[in-house]
Amino acid sequence: MSEQHTAVVRPSGRYAAAGATAVAHPNIALVKYWGKRDEELVLPRTDSLSMTLDIFPTTTHVRLDAAARRDEVTLGGVPATGEALRRIVAFLDLVRDRAGLSVRAVVDTENTVPTGAGLASSASGFAALAAAAAAAYGLGPDATALSRLARRGSGSASRSVFGGFAVWHAGAGTGAGADAGSYAEPVPAGDLDPALVIAVVDAGPKAVSSREAMRRTVATSPLYGPWAASSKDDLVAMRAALLRADLDTVGEIAERNALGMHATMLAARPAVRYLAPATLMVLDSVLRLRRDGIAAYATMDAGPNVKVLCRRADADRVAAVVRGAAPRATVHIARPGPGVRLLNAGGR
Ligand code: DP6
Repeated sequence: MSEQHTAVVRPSGRYAAAGATAVAHPNIALVKYWGKRDEELVLPRTDSLSMTLDIFPTTTHVRLDAAARRDEVTLGGVPATGEALRRIVAFLDLVRDRAGLSVRAVVDTENTVPTGAGLASSASGFAALAAAAAAAYGLGPDATALSRLARRGSGSASRSVFGGFAVWHAGAGTGAGADAGSYAEPVPAGDLDPALVIAVVDAGPKAVSSREAMRRTVATSPLYGPWAASSKDDLVAMRAALLRADLDTVGEIAERNALGMHATMLAARPAVRYLAPATLMVLDSVLRLRRDGIAAYATMDAGPNVKVLCRRADADRVAAVVRGAAPRATVHIARPGPGVRLLNAGGR
């Protein structure tokens, strides 16, 4: 799996290249990130651990434009507006600040993941933007620095810098000094040969953003503290299970960690409920699969979609059962994928 870990390319020298293109893939957390201790620096309350996927890449091109008065951002060919534009411009300001440059950028992003559907498009999006912008502005970060930088765009993006399995260390403390301790790195794993069967039961935008849902959960949910405490134990057990390639234990931990995270949201005031009727139909089908002796375990993020962890050899059967349970869902099969990759540092 070593080949999958990182494919970060250092641009040559500390000068701003004219432009750069980067590709990153989404990741799905098996031990979730849910809750920040510092909103500005995107510092989490707990460590998290994920698998980067081999499907739904985001490709982002960043070109510096000395004549431009403001950043120009298009997402899938459509000019970005509102919150999406604000977050990308704020991220570019951070990169410019570090590079000591003020030149504006033209950013083009092609997303192949259904945006806003709880499939972590912000993870692949900000990992690709971080790599492309860092190269275009001549920052030349190593993989750890790139992970820290991507984190500032969206927490989960810190993990998409790496392929395979990655752990994001929460680090300690708050404020500028804490920034250095919060980054992702690859996690060693045995020969699991896993697949994730992804049931997209609703590809529409979500009613409550994950950012707002997280904030509300931390501020109001009486279940948040206990979940965060048990998540620490989950992470330790998850690392051990990955190392010994124990897919059943990996799946059990992932499923309980995700259900626990959703319990914290359900107990928030007012409640945040992402789980839809079709979500529960898929969860029931996962229980049936297990009763039939198939190792299948569910995880859900900030949306109604379900990702079912199983052995690669069982993926087609799992996909068929999931389709039967939610006939209107679109079902994809993902495997572990690569880390962020710079296509070039001089243009398209
Ligand atoms: C439920 O990384 O999208 O997918 O840092 O506020 O941008 P921000 O949040 P984001 O949250 C992802 C939450 C999650 C769990 C996870 O990926 O660990």
